[in-house]
Parts: sequence; structure tokens; C-alpha cells
Amino acid sequence: MKKSILLALLLVVFATASAQNIPLLKGWKFTTGDSPEWANPAFNDQNWQAINVQKSWEAQGHQNYDGFGWYRLHVVIPSSLKASAYLKDSLRIELGHADDGYAVYLNGHLLNQNFKGDNIQKGRYGPCKALLATQNPAILWDKDNVIAVRIFDTGGDGGLYGEPKQFNAEMLDVVDYARINTDGDFDYSDQKSLSKSVKVETNSQYQYKGKLYFTVTDPATDKLIYSKTDDAAFATKKAFEKRYELKDLAPKSYTLTYTFIDDRSGKKLIKTEHAPYILTPETSKKPRINGADIYGQQPGHPFLYKIPATGVKPLKFEVSGLPQGLTLDKATGVITGTVTKRAAYPVQINVSNSLGVARKKFIIKIGDEIGLTPALGWNSWNAFGLSVNDARVRVAAKNISDKLSGHGWSYVNIDDGWEAEKRGDDGAIVPNEKFPDMKALSDYIHGLGLKFGIYSSPGPMTCGRYLGSYQHEDQDAQTYANWGVDYLKYDWCYYGDIAPASPTIDEYKKPYQVMRASLDKTNRDIFYSLCQYGMGESWNWAGEIGGNSWRTTGDIVDTWTSMSSIGFNQLMASPHARPGHFNDPDMLIVGKVGWGDNQHNTRLTPDEQYTHISLWSLLASPLLIGCDLGQLDRFTLNLLTNDEVLAINQDILGKQAARVLTKDDYLIYVKDLHDGSKAVGIFNISDNYKNITVDLNNLGLGHFTTIRDVWRQKNLALNNKALKTGIPSHAVTLLKLSN
Ligand code: GLA
Repeated sequence: MKKSILLALLLVVFATASAQNIPLLKGWKFTTGDSPEWANPAFNDQNWQAINVQKSWEAQGHQNYDGFGWYRLHVVIPSSLKASAYLKDSLRIELGHADDGYAVYLNGHLLNQNFKGDNIQKGRYGPCKALLATQNPAILWDKDNVIAVRIFDTGGDGGLYGEPKQFNAEMLDVVDYARINTDGDFDYSDQKSLSKSVKVETNSQYQYKGKLYFTVTDPATDKLIYSKTDDAAFATKKAFEKRYELKDLAPKSYTLTYTFIDDRSGKKLIKTEHAPYILTPETSKKPRINGADIYGQQPGHPFLYKIPATGVKPLKFEVSGLPQGLTLDKATGVITGTVTKRAAYPVQINVSNSLGVARKKFIIKIGDEIGLTPALGWNSWNAFGLSVNDARVRVAAKNISDKLSGHGWSYVNIDDGWEAEKRGDDGAIVPNEKFPDMKALSDYIHGLGLKFGIYSSPGPMTCGRYLGSYQHEDQDAQTYANWGVDYLKYDWCYYGDIAPASPTIDEYKKPYQVMRASLDKTNRDIFYSLCQYGMGESWNWAGEIGGNSWRTTGDIVDTWTSMSSIGFNQLMASPHARPGHFNDPDMLIVGKVGWGDNQHNTRLTPDEQYTHISLWSLLASPLLIGCDLGQLDRFTLNLLTNDEVLAINQDILGKQAARVLTKDDYLIYVKDLHDGSKAVGIFNISDNYKNITVDLNNLGLGHFTTIRDVWRQKNLALNNKALKTGIPSHAVTLLKLSN
């Protein structure tokens, strides 16, 4: 044997012997359907389709398929895994995310499932994993093992999917039983100092002793700007807690790293996070009128518009040129009434307080089109999921009214989970016990000058398996109108049971046309939001059939992968955005989200959140806040109240940005604005800080004389039409170019 071959063999043996984990990314087989036989290791899956578990099954030949699917993988689990581990108790299998219900089997033994009771169809999107004792006879050490996963998808994307590193089998390590808990909020009374409590904790039988290292680095220079080391000992119910205080910070991105090193095993636990930093300048005490420059309603329908304005209270509102039929409440700025004559009415708005007057020219357009600029509001789903209730919606409405409506935010939308199990005797849809009086809730929201939204499905059931509107469309539309509903999100879901297996475009349109006709029979403007995840390339036709907005994707979650892969893949839909009709890449995932009773801080870093809001603004997307507004922190509030950023989203031209430059590590988007100026987003999509020089001449933008940093609301200097900007990883520079 040649020496080099021997060396290569030894390397392979060594690599196997010291394997700490087994990647479970490649070699998967898949089929749609359902059979208990498919959990059996002896089953022959050779004829099944090979599938990439990084992507949903929709993306791999099963477009629009909802229902059961099975995945199988053959894998050798080497005993060296156990031998080389510090702790030898448990093996963890991680298989990305399951959408929705899942059950994981190893060699025919059920290891874990994510649904309650015996109904796999009640599962929800979440991590797919299993933990098992190393003594469990289900594991065949050093032999062929079969992992089988049964999935049930209720709608939208389905199957297993995730990032490569999420598909793994590994031994639990001593530090796997410990956790650095950074869930607490940052305190920052001013821009410069920041403090936060962090815990290192365990709920295992192990006792830990070691050191906790804390460092703060400036990603622009990689310089360490602060470090602190503490002895840290902890055990179950005795967490180690430490409060860190930082001073003299600039309003920019910093990287905070916490590292615990366990004395006994030498193992490390590392957690990184990014400090919040506020870019939006403080709202002026002087009056300022915000929001779009136009508002559309249909003739003869109830009119409701609250003039968004900020400044020290009390504010006094005046409007000249109001069309006949409308009246203004001078103390609140709410305009109500009805206008019968179609026309574009130019009006002059003045808002004054003790410090001055703000003036704005504004158009009230009475005609066929509503939603002339993207919807700005809140929706219950990303915060509360199916556990939405009357009180939670009222908290949202009150907070929008107090903190956000001055910047143009107006919709308060209930998503799935409000419907009763059965219709009333007359067939009318009725709310469940969580919503005792829908009309009273609607009156409360309207009383704040805000708009009220609701949710249903064209199918017999919604995605959350509540009642849908199938064959009750006229009746439901009329019920909504009676309640005073201003917005309907209409979600395909169990219409999948009614539609043919591979619907034609006409078949995709059909249920949405039926409800459109029903809405048109009511005497109300009800903004119509289509939710069918972009099936049949809905952006090509959803506007024509009367959709005011339409989802272009499956559901978003609060990760960079989810947000960026949705947000940066909207180019196909871009030409279809126009006043009254907008692409909807799904709701916002900033603030405290949770899809249920427990909320957590979004897993997006502050930089990623600036990217999220900037990108959605450039895309002229609806901005529907998806967090618990009862827990609105300072960072999130500032993120949502930058009037110059919102003005890009609300520009009356209604255009969606085009991508003008694509590099491996950064992207440039440009959005045309109605006055000839342009909004430009430079997005650093790489994992490192980037210094980027943009040659405006090369992008055809050389003729602009004023360049404004929109988040900071400051003009920037230009050097020979070259713009230099330093952008942290996953962050953005958002500019407005004008003359
Ligand atoms: C689907 C939609 C979500 C939400 C849920 C409610 O998943 O895409 O936005 O409305 O249904 O069940």
C-alpha cells in the first residue's frame, strides 16, 4: 500500500472516530400520501423521489400540495459518536422545521410528535426534533438506521425545510443542558448608555462552575470596546445572573458576545446578540402632518379618515375645501361622513399647536379605488396566533391610537381564531367566546379614528380549522358590513379541498371573485386582502380581479433566513404594484412576536429589523405590525415611526422598487417616487461588515444633487458622485436622492 493511500485511510478513520455529529442533510426520499407501513425500516423506498430537505415540497414538484407526506433517510449511527462524547446519555436528532404537524420515527419506533391529542392535522409549524437516551433499543449502533418523518401540511408551504446546519444527529453535551438566557430587555434611558441582565442557567442535575466572558466589539473596526470576565457557578434553580452596563455608545451596531467556559469539561457555550440602536430622530414638538398625500373612498360609502399628525398636544385640525358630506372633528383630526359625487377633491390641511402650524395639500379621491397607498396597521397573527381575543385587540388599538396613528398607522386587523365552531341558526357567522361583541369592538376601534379588519377563508375551514365562508359568502360579507369591517384577509387554506388538485388560473381566481362580488353588494368599502401564498403566480392577476393586496409567499417567521429569502425574492411581482393594488410579502416580524400566548423578542437583530422595514417600504408592501403592541419597546416604536421611511412606503406613485445591482454580498434597490426623486436601499446581505462605494453615475443616478440618509434624516456629502457607506452585516443604508 502506498504511503499516501495509507495516510488518506488513516485520516478517514480518524475523522469517523472523532465524529461529534452526523449530518442528516443528504439522501432523503419522499412521497406524498400516508401509510403506517412507511415508518417500517424494512419498507423499500427506492422508488420514492429524492428530495432536498432545505426546501419545502411545493418547491420540488408538489406545488399547492396540502396533506400528508413522508420522508425517509438511511443512516449509519457510529458508536464512536458515543465514545468520543463527554456525556454519554442522550442523542439528539434535528431535522430543520416541519410545516405543520409531524411525527419522527427511528427504525419504526415513534420518537416525537408535535401535535396534541391524536390529530396530526393540528400540528403547527416549528422545529422538528427528537431526543432519545443512548440506551434506547431503537438506535442500531454501527448499523443502518431508518429515520422516517410523517408530516401533515394544512396550507401554504409544506414539509421539512431549513438551513443545512439544522439537519444533524449529535450527542448531548454538558453545555447542552445549560443556556445563556438573553431574553430580557435592554434598558436604555438615552442613546448612549445601555444595560441588560443576562443569566446562565440549567434545569439539569449537573452543577456548573466556570467563567463568563462578556465582550463588546465594533463590527466596523473589529475593535474590542469593552470586556468583562466573571466567575460563574450555577445549578438547577440557581442561575448565575449578571447585569452589564455600557456607556458612551454611538447610535450604531455593536456585537455583544457572551461565552461561558465550563471548568470541568472545558466546553464552551457562546451567544451573540446585537445592541439596539435608535436612528430615528426624536419626533418634533412642533406640528407635523404625516401619512400619504392621498386617500380614496367609494361614493356613498361611510367615510373615515384620521389625519396623521404629530407634535405636542393639544393639536388643532383645520381642513379647507372638504367635499360636501364630510365633517372634521377639529380636536382629533378625524373626518367622517359620506360623499356622493365622484371627483378628486384637493383640500388644504392645517394642524397647529402652541409652537406653530403645519400645512399640507391633500387629495380626497372619491371613485372606484380604495387603498391607494399600502395598508399601514396591525394584525394579530404573528403576535397571538389563534389565541387572539377581544382584550388583546383593544390593547393593540389603544396603542396604535396613542403611539402610532400620528404617523399614519390605521388598521387593526383580527386574523384567524375569532370564529365560532358553528354558524347561527340563520346560517350567519358568529364569533366565539373570545369575542363577546364584535360590533362593540368595531365601534371602539372606529371611535379611535382607526379601521377594523377581519379574516376568513373561501374554504369550509380556515387554516386554523375554524369556520370559513364557503357557500356563505354573501351572508358573511353582509355580516362584516353590519359589524363595520373595513378590511378582509381571505385565506385559501381548506379551499384546497374544494379546488381541483392542480387548479388552472381561472380556478385559482374563482373563490376570490365570488367573495369580491359579495363584498361589492355591501354598502361599505372593505379592503380586500388575498392570501393564497402566490399560487398560480397570483401577482399577475390578483389586482385585476379586485384584490387590494395579495400575498406573494408562504408564511414569514422571525428569522433572517425567512425574512431575507422572502424580501429579496419579490422581483417577479414588482411590475404589478400600483395604487390600490399591492404585492404582500407577509406581515412584519419586529417587536415581541409569538403566534400564541407566549411572546419573545423577534430573533431578527436590530440591523435585520432596519433591513426589514426598509425593504418592505421600498417594495411598497403593506406594513402590518405583527407584535404585541402592549409590550412595545423603545427600539420597535422608533423603527415604526420614522416618517421619512414611511413616506417611501406611502408614496402616491405606488411603485415597487427594482433591483439595479446584484453582487454576492450586497444588493441595491431603487424605487421611483412621485416627485421624480428616488429611494435607494443598499443591503449588505453578507455575514461581515462591508465598506461599499457606490458610483451613482454607473447606476444612472448621477444627476441628483441631494442625498439624504433617510433613517437618520440627515443629508450626506458626496465625493465625485461616489457614495461611501459602511454597512454592518444584514443591515442597510436607505437613501433618498432628489434635486
Ligand atoms: C395562514 C396565513 C397566515 C395566518 C394563518 C391563520 O397560515 O398565511 O398569515 O392567517 O393562516 O391560520
